[in-house]
Amino acid sequence: MPDRVAPEGDPWWMSGVLYQIYPRSFADANGDGVGDLPGIIDHLDHLAWLGVDGIWLSPVTVSPNADWGYDVADFYGIQPDLGTADDFDRLIVEARRRGLRVLMDLVPNPTSVEHPWFVDSRSSRHSRHRSWYVWADPRPDGSPPNNWVSSFGGSAWTLDETTGQYYLHNHLVEQPDLNWWNEEVRRAFDEIMTYWLDRGVSGFRIDVCNIIIKDALLRDNPPATESDPLDVQLFGQRPVYNGNRPEVHEVIRRWRALIGGYPDGVLVGETPVEPIASLARFYGNGHDELHLAFNFPFISAPLAADEMRAIVEEVERDLPPGAWPVWTGSNHDMSRFASRWADGDPARARVALVMLLCLRGTPVLYQGDEIGQPDTELTQADLRDPLGVLYWPAYAGRDGMRTPMPWRDVPGGGFTAAGVTPWLPFGDLSAQNVEEQRSDPDSMLTLARDLIAWRTGTPDLRTGSYRTLEASPGTWAWSRGPTVTVAASMSDGPGTVPGVAGTIRIATDRSRQGEVVDGTLELDGWEAVVVEAGHG
Ligand code: NOJ
Repeated sequence: MPDRVAPEGDPWWMSGVLYQIYPRSFADANGDGVGDLPGIIDHLDHLAWLGVDGIWLSPVTVSPNADWGYDVADFYGIQPDLGTADDFDRLIVEARRRGLRVLMDLVPNPTSVEHPWFVDSRSSRHSRHRSWYVWADPRPDGSPPNNWVSSFGGSAWTLDETTGQYYLHNHLVEQPDLNWWNEEVRRAFDEIMTYWLDRGVSGFRIDVCNIIIKDALLRDNPPATESDPLDVQLFGQRPVYNGNRPEVHEVIRRWRALIGGYPDGVLVGETPVEPIASLARFYGNGHDELHLAFNFPFISAPLAADEMRAIVEEVERDLPPGAWPVWTGSNHDMSRFASRWADGDPARARVALVMLLCLRGTPVLYQGDEIGQPDTELTQADLRDPLGVLYWPAYAGRDGMRTPMPWRDVPGGGFTAAGVTPWLPFGDLSAQNVEEQRSDPDSMLTLARDLIAWRTGTPDLRTGSYRTLEASPGTWAWSRGPTVTVAASMSDGPGTVPGVAGTIRIATDRSRQGEVVDGTLELDGWEAVVVEAGHG
C-alpha cells in the first residue's frame, strides 16, 4: 500500500482523514438512478486527490430497505442494486491501490424482519433462533411488556400473533432487536466481522453500538424530567433500560480483541450518548474498547466559540489516556453542516471545515462536505426515509441530507446518466458541484484539499496536543503541538488572538496565506487561519 501519510508509527486512522460514503447517493455507474459500488470505484481518484485515507461505506449488505440498509437481511451478501460481491472485492483492491482503506457499516442491534434468523425466531416459541431476539409476554391486560418507546416513536414492542409474544424493536417494526445476552449471537457477529476483515476491510463503523444490550429484567424506563436534554423530554422517558447498559462494554471489548488481530483494524462506534463523560466510557481504558467514538454533543452544538470550545475541552479532559477523539459535522442522519452549522453561509462553512480538520482527533467528512453541499429541500412526494413519511410535515426526515452527490452541473449531475431520474432529487447542481470547485482556487473544495495536504505533511497538526489559547470573545484559538496555532472567528465581528508568531499557512481568505504574524493576530468575522511557527 502506498505510504501516503508517513505516519511515523501512529495508526493510519489516527493521523488520517475518514470520508463517509452513502452508496446509494455517491455515483451511479449503471444508470438506474441508484448509486453503486462500480460508481464508487469510478470516483476513487477524486478521494485520493482530495487526500483522505479511508472511506466508511453506509450499509452495502442485503436489505429490504425499510430503513435503507440499516435493516439487514443477509450480513454476508451485497445488496443487488448496489453491485455484486466481485464489485466489492474490486473496490477493496482499487481503494488499496490508491492508499485508501475501506470500512463497512456493521449493524448489530436490529436485523431485518426478513433475516432468516428472525423468520425462524418468530415461527414458534421453541424455534432454533427464538432466543436470538428479545421476546416477552404481554402484560395481563394484553399491553406491551413495559413502557419502552422506539427511537422512531411509538411503543418499542410489537405483538406477534403467531406466538402471542411481543418482540422488541428500538427502531422500526421491521427492525427486531437481537438479544445480545445470547452467546450464539455474539459468536455469529464474530464470524461476520472476521469474514469481512479477511476479505480486506480495515474495520467497521458500528451502528448504535451503545444500545445493543438491554436490561435483563426489562424494567420500565424512568420518566424524563425538565433537567433532561430536549430529545429525552420529547420521548417522555430516560433511555436507561432499553439500551445504554454497562454490560455493552464487555461486548465492545470482545470486538476490540477480535480486531486486534488485524494490524490496520479500527472500530468506529456510533455512540449517541451524553455527556462527554459517558462517551468517554466507550473508549474503555483507552486501549480496549472503541478506537473512535462519534461525538454527538459536538455535532449537535451550535457553531459558536464558547459552546464548541467547552465540548472540546471536556473531551480533552475526560477521555482516558491513549483514547483518540473523532470530529464530524454531518452524516446521513444529521442535517449537513453547511446548513445546520453554517445556515447556508459559505464563510461559516469554511470556518467549520478548518475546525474539523485542525482539532486533535480524526476528522470524518460526509460526502459533499468538501464542497459545502447543503441539505436539499424536498417535497412530500420526494420522501423515501420512513421517518419523513411518518412525520411530515412536522419532521421532513433524513432524505434532505442523502440526496445525490453533485459532481457536475449537467443533466444527471455526473451522478447518473442524463435523463435518468435519481432515487432522490438533486439539490441545486449549479450552486455547488465538484467539477467547478476543482478548478476554482478559492473554492471550498480547494480549501479542503489544501488543508488535508497541509495536515498530512505537518506532524503537529496530525497528532500534536491541543491547548486552548486566549482570544477575544466570539473567537476560539488553540495550539496543536509546539508549532501550530489555529484561530477561528465564530461571529460577525472581528476577533483577535494575542501573542501569535509565525506564518499563515492556510486561511479561509486565501489571500492571507504567507502573511507573517508577530504579535496580535487579527481576524475578520467568520474567518479562520492556521499559523505555523517561524517565518518564511
Ligand atoms: C443508525 C443509523 O445511522 C440510522 O440511519 C438508522 O436509521 C438507525 N441506526 C436505526 O437502524
